[in-house]
This record gives sequence, structure tokens and C-alpha cells, in this order.
Amino acid sequence: MHTKLICSQTGEEFSVNELHNLSTAGKPLLAQYDLDAIRSRFTPAVVRSRRERSMWKFREVMPVDSMDEVVSLGEGCCPLIKAHSTGPFERFTNLFIKDESFNPTGSFKARGMSAAITRAKALGIKAIALPSAGNAAGAATYYAARAGLECHLFVPEDTPPANIIESKIGGAHVYMVNGLISDCGRLCRQACDVHGWFDLSTLKEPFRIEGKKTMGYELAFDFADVDGTDELQLPDVIFYPTGGGTGLIGMWKAFAEMEQLGWIGSGRPRMVSVQADGCAPIVKAFQEGEDHAPMFPNAHTCASGLRVPIAVGDFLMLDAIAKSNGTAISVSDKELMIGTEEICRHQGIAACPEGGAVWKAAEKLLDDDWLKSDERIVLFNTGTGLKYNHLFSLDGIPRIDQHDENWMETIEA
Ligand SMILES: Cc1ncc(COP(=O)(O)O)c(C=O)c1O
Repeated sequence: MHTKLICSQTGEEFSVNELHNLSTAGKPLLAQYDLDAIRSRFTPAVVRSRRERSMWKFREVMPVDSMDEVVSLGEGCCPLIKAHSTGPFERFTNLFIKDESFNPTGSFKARGMSAAITRAKALGIKAIALPSAGNAAGAATYYAARAGLECHLFVPEDTPPANIIESKIGGAHVYMVNGLISDCGRLCRQACDVHGWFDLSTLKEPFRIEGKKTMGYELAFDFADVDGTDELQLPDVIFYPTGGGTGLIGMWKAFAEMEQLGWIGSGRPRMVSVQADGCAPIVKAFQEGEDHAPMFPNAHTCASGLRVPIAVGDFLMLDAIAKSNGTAISVSDKELMIGTEEICRHQGIAACPEGGAVWKAAEKLLDDDWLKSDERIVLFNTGTGLKYNHLFSLDGIPRIDQHDENWMETIEA
């Protein structure tokens, strides 16, 4: 259980028993745990001995007093799949894909929602609201349904229809806004003030990051399994498709916690933030040596999860990238769509465009000699490609007339 919340910028402390959004300085709050106190009883062996297949096997470092409070649909424990070195992947010998499409509602957003909705429910919240690029909306809908909470979602009108429909079917109140996610966030905040809903915007409440950080914990166990050892291991490089950056910041927090627990040493993977050319505020700020990333003008990309022109956790991401000797890089929409198909066809994984983006970014960084081909590299496929059917067409798929006696000529042998 967490002991306090601290402002990520000023260190000001806040109680864990009250509801909070941002700190008084307007920055994200981060949950703190008494790691020294749990060190002797919370060990990798204890985690391995737990039978449940969910991220709640890390419950000592999660915002929960008792497992009875947990709102879970089996999130986390997603496979780390070693990529075959074939076709466009042949130059990589140690490439791994963490396939987050296995999560409930098909994306890593489930981890954050399970943690945040667990805590919101425990603190007596009855209604939540959030802006979303799509996948968070779907996840929030189903965790809210599971918890019996009312759910209000503000989404850009060009959000993938699959996300809007899944949210509608799941009983959420969905509002389609003629603007970007940043506009949705502003309207959501105003509606929360009027209606008393709890604002669950990413990093504007302290616990979605706690769910997402479990990706960092899992990687350490995954790589121990790869090596067949009990010693936790981290990869050399992590490629993360970045919108609000909650997963990147969360994994960075997880590594610090694991070091404090004595589970790992001081070595860290190089963190690579990947964005789209049409919406690359973190890449621009990183390249210009800034510690904050202003609003990116005219944000556009078909990878909806990357369509985040301004992020409240910008300085935390930039700090993690710099401290890890990482980098930030963008790819074009054309490249990320090619990358998506390559993962589907050569790895058998139904990648989302955000996953396609990280793959193409890895290729570019190998071309630039920033990566070595035998380094242990993790690409995050953050969601299922099945929600992006609107980006593809049925053109070119042969039609067969079952009454045509020459129909066999259509077969592509
Ligand atoms: C599939 C996918 N990948 C990546 C992201 C970006 O995640 P984050 O906001 O943690 O940076 C999103 C966010 O909507 C997403 O849906």
C-alpha cells in the first residue's frame, strides 16, 4: 500500500486518503511506498509463487489496502515474444515484442484503468470522466462497468470507431468533440467541475501510472525467464510509443522502486520515445534540449494514441530519456503503417499502428548506428491492431461468384 503522494516537481506531500488530481504546483502526483519496510517480505520469489495471472501480483507496490478492493479483469502478464530474424527483421538478433494486445479491451490502457478505478472506488467515487484518444476510453468503460461506476468520455471525433462503439456498448456516456485530445481534456475538466465527476485524465490522477509501471516490473521477470535465471534482468533498450507518456514514466518509476527493493542494480535500459512526424512534441523538445514540451501545432497522425500535442508529464519523460541515455525519434504515418503490416506478416502479431511506429523507429536507429544489432531491444505493441480496421480497405480482395464455373481462376496460387 502506498504511504503518501508527492508532487513530481516540488516534492510537496499529499495524503493518500483523499482524492487528488494535480498537485498545488499543477504537476502530476506520484505514489510513494515504504519500500524498506516491505523489502524482506516482498521478493521476486514471492511474486513468482503467486498463482494469479494479473498485474496485481505486484500488489505491495500498488494503491490497494486489501485485495478485496481490486477491480480486475486479468490485466497484465502479457507475453514477451522474441521476434523472428526474418525479412525486414533479419538484422536484429535480440528483438522482443511485449504484446500488450493481450490485455482486457485489447490495450495496455487496461493496466492503468484497473489501478485508477480500484483506487477511485475505494475512495467512494461514483462517477469518473476522462478525455481519450480511444483505447483509454474502451478500457475505462469496461473497468467502470465492472466497478459499478458511471463513466463519461470525451473523445476527438476522429477517434477510431471501434473504440467509440465499444465504449457505447459498454454503457459509457461518450461525447465526440470536434478537436484534439487536449480540447477534450479542457471540456472534461469543466464538466467535472459542474457535475462533481472525478477526473481520471492520465497523470492528472496519481494511479493510472501505477498500473502502467507494472510493465517495467514484468520486463525484469520476463528477461530472467529468457535467461533461465532467478536474477531479474532488464533489456538494453525500450521503445515506447508516446502520447501522454504514462507508460514510459511508469516503467522508469518501476526501475527505481526495484533498485530500492534490492531487486536490480543501477543499470537502466535506454528509453526511446517514439512519436509520429505529425505530432512530435517530445521529440522536438528532446532535440532542442528543452526540459518541457510546448503544444505541438496542427497535430495529426493516423496512430490515434500518438495524437497528443501536449502532455502534463512532459518534463518527467524528458528527464527519463536523458538520464537513461535514450533518445526520441519520430516516423511518418506512411512508415508506421508499413511497419504495422511488417509486424503482422513477419511476426504473426496483430500490431497496432503505434506498435508499427516503434518498429520503424528501431530500424532507423540501427541504420544510424545508435543501436547494435545484437542488443536486447523491446518494442511495445501497446494494443491490438483489430481496432484500426478503419485505416485499411477491402479493395484488392478477390471476389468469387459461387455460381461461376470458372471461379477457381480467381485463386492466387
Ligand atoms: C495503442 C496506444 N499506444 C500508445 C499510446 C500512448 O500512450 P501514453 O499516453 O502512455 O503515452 C496510446 C494512448 O492512447 C495508445 O492507445
